[in-house]
Amino acid sequence: MAKTVIITGTSSGIGLELANYFQEKDYNVFGLSRSISKNAKFKTISTDITNEKEVDKSISTILAKTGKIDLLINNAGKGMVGPVENANKDEIIDLFTLNLIAPIYLMNRVIPIMRKEKSGKIINISSIGSIMGLPFRGFYSASKSSLDMVTESLRYELNNTGIEVCTVNLGDIRTSIADHRIKSVISENYMKSFEKVYNHMNNDVNNGFPPSCVAPFIEKLFLQKSSLKPHYYFGTFVQKLSLIVKAMFPQKWFEKIIAKYSGI
Ligand SMILES: NC(=O)c1ccc[n+]([C@@H]2O[C@H](COP(=O)([O-])OP(=O)(O)OC[C@H]3O[C@@H](n4cnc5c(N)ncnc54)[C@H](OP(=O)(O)O)[C@@H]3O)[C@@H](O)[C@H]2O)c1
Repeated sequence: MAKTVIITGTSSGIGLELANYFQEKDYNVFGLSRSISKNAKFKTISTDITNEKEVDKSISTILAKTGKIDLLINNAGKGMVGPVENANKDEIIDLFTLNLIAPIYLMNRVIPIMRKEKSGKIINISSIGSIMGLPFRGFYSASKSSLDMVTESLRYELNNTGIEVCTVNLGDIRTSIADHRIKSVISENYMKSFEKVYNHMNNDVNNGFPPSCVAPFIEKLFLQKSSLKPHYYFGTFVQKLSLIVKAMFPQKWFEKIIAKYSGI
């Protein structure tokens, strides 16, 4: 019987590539996003994942069709840019609702279903930026590092259930994520440095890995027999090196490197 895979955020970018890849490999894929891509080769159930009633309805529909869920990929998310000082509360709530609260709700709905089967995997899409507070991306980094920490806690709590959970922390991937970011008002005193960092970050995304690279990496994690590690890092050599540098050297040194890299 085909494995049932739920992927959130499948109307564009990484989620669309993931869902098409898994469908082509004969998994039974259900994409959850608000809009439906005309390039989708899989079933999409139109769902705003920040709306709990819509999520409940979609999960019930999937369960009625398949009777089980083998893999949940919490992929939907968005960025937020701007100075910490300028951020407003509604924007921060909006970001954390999508990047943290919604994946938690999905996990809470899916875990009891997986528990009955004594198996299942949950992969939370995070960012290499979750390991460091990057300039003008403080809330994005915080939303993803919160997801990392919740994932770590769950791993203890799900011990002996047969359910495994991990994060995949991505470096830059060439998607239209920049078009969907929340952009705070930028006050005059930050304008010059923000513009430098903003151009830099958009450039990094435009030169990132194509989103098609992520899917085989994630399928390998789904198929692997040995237990999942808490976090997997997918990025360039330099992006992965930054994690080692951050862990091994004084934070002040690390900040100098990041400031220089960002052009501020
Ligand atoms: N691209 C990168 O460089 C990069 C790096 C690290 C991590 N990531 C992470 O990778 C994930 C995918 O990002 P991407 O680059 O593929 O961005 P993207 O192209 O902007 O895709 C975002 C997806 O999330 C969905 N989404 C947004 N709000 C939603 C909601 N309320 N309910 C359901 N779906 C919603 C969107 O669909 P609808 O608008 O149709 O709902 C869309 O399909 C995100 O979690 C992101 O943080 C990306």
